[in-house]
Amino acid sequence: TGGPVVLGIETSCDETGVGIVRGSTLLANVIASSMDEHARYGGVVPEVAARAHLEAMNPALTAALAEAGIGLDEVDAIAVTSGPGLAGALMVGVGAAKALAVATGKPLYAVNHLVGHVGADVLAAESLEYPTIALLVSGGHTSLLLVRDLVDDVELLGETIDDAAGEAFDKVARVLGLPYPGGPQIDRAAIGGDPAAIRFPRGLMQAKDLEKHRYDFSFSGLKTAVARWVERADDAGEEIPVADVAASFREAVVDVLLTKAFRACADYGIPRLLLGGGVVANARVREAAAERAAAQGVTLRIPPLSLCTDNGAMIAALGAQLIQAGHAPSDLGFGADSTLPV
Ligand code: KG4
Ligand code: ZN
Repeated sequence: TGGPVVLGIETSCDETGVGIVRGSTLLANVIASSMDEHARYGGVVPEVAARAHLEAMNPALTAALAEAGIGLDEVDAIAVTSGPGLAGALMVGVGAAKALAVATGKPLYAVNHLVGHVGADVLAAESLEYPTIALLVSGGHTSLLLVRDLVDDVELLGETIDDAAGEAFDKVARVLGLPYPGGPQIDRAAIGGDPAAIRFPRGLMQAKDLEKHRYDFSFSGLKTAVARWVERADDAGEEIPVADVAASFREAVVDVLLTKAFRACADYGIPRLLLGGGVVANARVREAAAERAAAQGVTLRIPPLSLCTDNGAMIAALGAQLIQAGHAPSDLGFGADSTLPV
């Protein structure tokens, strides 16, 4: 199939991603993660991530071209994440993309990371219709978007006002003595646990919150509640029921995420929901989302996990969409913007 060949570069967090697409066909998706280097700190260390990107960039570019079976001369355009994300990490990708563009004379498209997550869906065999609601949940972001048009009209409905959902998983895992990243660990620990064993608080779900924060999220209170609960049990000399705590915590996160996402579908009369971000790997997120989608008549889309977590292919795919919609390339004067709005 046709379409422009676009090479996408993603370095907003700890994944160095280089992907190549032809139109909406995936040709390569190479990801190098510095996750292991952050593990002993219990979270992503920006300086460590930036250095790792610098080291991983050239090998990732070479590997992506090899995987796609093409030479750099066959690439029509370059796309890069210019934000939001960690400033120093973004700068490595932006710098590499500009260098490539200048050296080859190819057009360069600066794109938004969150919109890129939505763009991943065009790589699916049958992609979603618009408008759609999109829920993006990772260690760095928790955002609810109303996507009327991928390249022209994306509205941020809400986002976390404190911790990202993945961050909450990572912090609670630490409280339970489980290693980083905590999401998969909590998922495993929750097997056999009772999700109703402990009623942990749901952030921004009270009637009084709904006016100002209808689609916003808050997970720091939940994290603190879990820490207090474990501390109290510890002090009382009780054995910590890890499976029950993990299952109850996970249920609280999933409940809030999905209640707000499906509420947006209902409010806007949009029966389509796209999920993205690393937390989408969560077994309970997937199960509960499928249940609610069936009950509410919503078409649920979850890209394969390699396209849900941060990657370069989604950035390339969004770049190709921009080109096909007739957008002009970015002026090379753009910088990295850690708080870039959608
Ligand atoms: O999208 P991602 O790979 O990277 C960024 O954060 O940018 O997401 C990683 C996050 C981590 O916080 C990790 O704990 C979480 O996603 N995660 C999960 C699961 N797998 C990964 N959270 C809940 N359940 C999981 N199974
Ligand atoms: Zn992301």
